[in-house]
Amino acid sequence: MKISIIGTGYVGTVTGTCLAELGHQIVFVVRDTKKRDLIPSGKSLIYEPGLDQLLEKNLARISTTMDLPDAIRKTELTFVCVGTPSNDDGSINLDQIRDVSHTIGKSLASDDEYHTIIVKSTVLPGTSETLVIPILEKESGKNAFVDFGFSSNPEFLKKGTAIEDFFHTDRIVIGVNDPKTKEVLEKLYQPLNAPIFATTIRTSEMIKYTSNSFLATKISFANEIGNLCKKMGIDSYEVFKGVGLDARINPHFFRSGIGFGGSCFPKDLKALIAHARTLGIEPQILTAVIGTNEDQPAKMIDLLKRHLDIAGKTIGVLGLAFKPDSDDIQESRAVPIIQALLKERAKIIAFDPVATENFRYLFPDVSYAKTAREVLDADAVLIVTEWKEFEDLDYRNKLVIDGRRIGKAHKEAVTYEGVCW
Ligand code: UDX
Repeated sequence: MKISIIGTGYVGTVTGTCLAELGHQIVFVVRDTKKRDLIPSGKSLIYEPGLDQLLEKNLARISTTMDLPDAIRKTELTFVCVGTPSNDDGSINLDQIRDVSHTIGKSLASDDEYHTIIVKSTVLPGTSETLVIPILEKESGKNAFVDFGFSSNPEFLKKGTAIEDFFHTDRIVIGVNDPKTKEVLEKLYQPLNAPIFATTIRTSEMIKYTSNSFLATKISFANEIGNLCKKMGIDSYEVFKGVGLDARINPHFFRSGIGFGGSCFPKDLKALIAHARTLGIEPQILTAVIGTNEDQPAKMIDLLKRHLDIAGKTIGVLGLAFKPDSDDIQESRAVPIIQALLKERAKIIAFDPVATENFRYLFPDVSYAKTAREVLDADAVLIVTEWKEFEDLDYRNKLVIDGRRIGKAHKEAVTYEGVCW
C-alpha cells in the first residue's frame, strides 16, 4: 500500500519505518528541511535502538515531502502521528491535531481516489468524532465512512523497544465505524499475526488512556507497597515476584523504585484527570497515582541524608534518561533529583550514555562525566536509570543509593540503600 505518515516524531517515524519493512511504500510528511534531507540518507534524528538500521534497509520504499496535499494525493492511507502535548494545566493540547485535520480535509477535497485517515496520536475519547471528523468533512465536502475511510488506531510502543513492540505486539486496537475501513486495517496488520481488537472509535481512544493509566497505577502501587516494605525491612522485589505469579495479576510493570517518567504516562494521566474534572468526576485514584509518583524521587535524597551531610559533597548521578535505551529526559526522575541535590548545595557529577546533551540543555551548570566510571569517584552514587552498562561497574567501597535496582551494586556496595528494598 502507499501510505503517508504525518508527524515524524517518535511514533510516526517508528510506525512508518516498520510499515516499510512490511513492504509498504511510505511518504513521511515533514515540517523541516533537516528531516526532509536526512531521512532519505537513513537518519531518523530519533534515538531508538535499531531504528536507523531499519530505515536504511528500507530506503527504497521511503520518501519525504513537505507537501502534505501532494502526499495525500499520492497515497491511499494516511496515519496522523502528530504530538498532543500538555497545556500548563495538564489538559491536552490539540492544536496540531486541529491544524493537520484542516489541511488533510482540504487535500481530500481534490483527491479523486478513496482515502483512509487513521489517527495514531493519543487523543481523548470523543476527539475523533467531535473534532477531527467534522473538520475533515467540512473542509473536504465529503462524508466520513462513505467518501473516505476513518479509523483510530492507538499506539502502544515503548521507547527503547519500539521496533520489537511493533512486530510482536500483544494486540492491535482499531476504532472503526464502517466495514471497508476495518478491512483495510485488517489487511494492513495481517502480517503481524497479532489479535486485532475492533471496537468503536471512542472506545479505542479510551483503551489507550486506560492502558497507560493502569500501568502507571501499577507502578505507583508497587512504589507505595515498596515504601512500606522498606520501613519493614522487606525486599519489595521478592514480594512482587511472589505476587506476580498469580496469573490474575502478572509480574510485569511491578518494578518499584523512583517512579515513572517519559512523554506518555505523566501527560496522559494528567489529560485524563483534567478531562474527568470537566465531566464533574474527581478521579481520586489517578490523582493519587500522580501524587505518589511525584513524592518518590525525594525518597532517594532522604536515604542519602541518612548516610551523608550532602552540602559541599560530590554526589554522582548514574542515569539521566527517563528509562534505559532512550535519550528522552521528559519527566525523567533525574530532574527532581538533581534539583533537590542542587538545593542541598551538593556538587554533582552526572553520567548518561545518551541523554547527557538533552540534560545539559536543562542544567548547564552540572558537571557531566564522559564515562560511568568517573561518577564512582564521588562521595556517594545515586542510580537513577537502570542502563545495562551500570551492571558492569565496580561498586566495592562505595556508598550507593539505588532507585532502580542494579543487582551488582546491591551485592557489592559497602553501604547500599535501595529505595523500596
Ligand atoms: C509507555 C507505555 O508503556 C506504552 O505502551 C505507550 O504507548 C507509551 O508510554 P514508555 O513511556 O516509552 O511507554 O516506557 P515504559 O516502559 O512504559 O516506562 C515508563 C516509565 O515507567 C519509565 O520511567 C520506567 O522507568 C517506569 N517504570 C516502568 C517503572 O518505574 N516500573 C516498572 O515496572 C515499569
